[in-house]
Amino acid sequence: MTDGTVTLVGAGPGDAGLLTLRGLRALEAADVIVADRLGARAVLDQLAADGVALTAEVIDVGKTPGHHPVPQNEINALLVRHARAGREVVRLKGGDPFVLGRGREEALYCEAEGIAVRVVPGVTSAVSVPAVAGIPLTHRGVATAFTVASAHDPIEQLPGGSDHTVVLLMGIGTLGHTAGILARGARGADCPVAIIEDGYGSGERVTVGSLGTIAALAAERRVRNPAVVVVGDVVRLSSSWPSGATHRSLSERSEMKGPAAPRSLSDRSETKGPTAPRSLSDRSETKGPTAPRSLSERSETKGPDRPRSSDRKTLQP
Ligand SMILES: C[S@@+](CC[C@H](N)C(=O)[O-])C[C@H]1O[C@@H](n2cnc3c(N)ncnc32)[C@H](O)[C@@H]1O
Repeated sequence: MTDGTVTLVGAGPGDAGLLTLRGLRALEAADVIVADRLGARAVLDQLAADGVALTAEVIDVGKTPGHHPVPQNEINALLVRHARAGREVVRLKGGDPFVLGRGREEALYCEAEGIAVRVVPGVTSAVSVPAVAGIPLTHRGVATAFTVASAHDPIEQLPGGSDHTVVLLMGIGTLGHTAGILARGARGADCPVAIIEDGYGSGERVTVGSLGTIAALAAERRVRNPAVVVVGDVVRLSSSWPSGATHRSLSERSEMKGPAAPRSLSDRSETKGPTAPRSLSDRSETKGPTAPRSLSERSETKGPDRPRSSDRKTLQP
């Protein structure tokens, strides 16, 4: 029997509108889909809700932080076993398979077993999740470079000052430690920070502060994974950053009054409610670079059956 192939597909951050067309074609052609939890599972569910019929058997090997239902070596073996049986296997991974995703490890394992591997890149959460808060990773005159890092790696070695954007994945558990280290370096305690939780998901929420305040804010707001942490001056460009604010504490900002005063963070960081799946066309709407809508506006466009998350906000002005 001729071996099948393994195709690593990046599912993007969890919104089917951000799956690539090539990725969709690979899913449609697959006999078996070996799917991660984060990003991948949500995309499969949205495709089904949108009437995209996938005939493949779906094997969920999803991991939650600190909990690994299917160990990596078993995932590798699973891919090879199905390909050896002549099946077209898609390994569907959140974001981009090659960004902190062990994609090349899986590909090397399959190749060493003689299985042909293809790669379909995905939209990484490192770039796309900051975008939901209107944060560009580079911006002329503000930042010309960025570093994407796992917060599990040595943070001391990250280069640059606040004009060099740092994007931390898997960064919530160690946030206090990480922020402390970065604050002691060239960035300083006033350097802006944003945390974007569950980008494109029902729990999407943005918290902004500084390296000096972010750990306390995150604890107060019970910030949870999955989340992307962005550190640097670009955070001031966020639709969630209080206009005219510099590095005031949250309570100072919340006390501002009057029409010109920025809305409190809690106003801005509404959590989306549980989802009626939107259509693909809704999901893949293009946002203009010059006029990002606020999170609250975006939440309000998601349909009447989404409870307004201001019900669930944890900070009061
Ligand atoms: C193991 S890394 C995988 C990254 C993935 N390969 C990518 O390119 O996005 C998982 C981390 O990505 C981030 N992440 C992925 N999807 C996310 C989302 N929809 N919202 C917020 N963070 C997300 C979180 O930091 C999470 O802990």
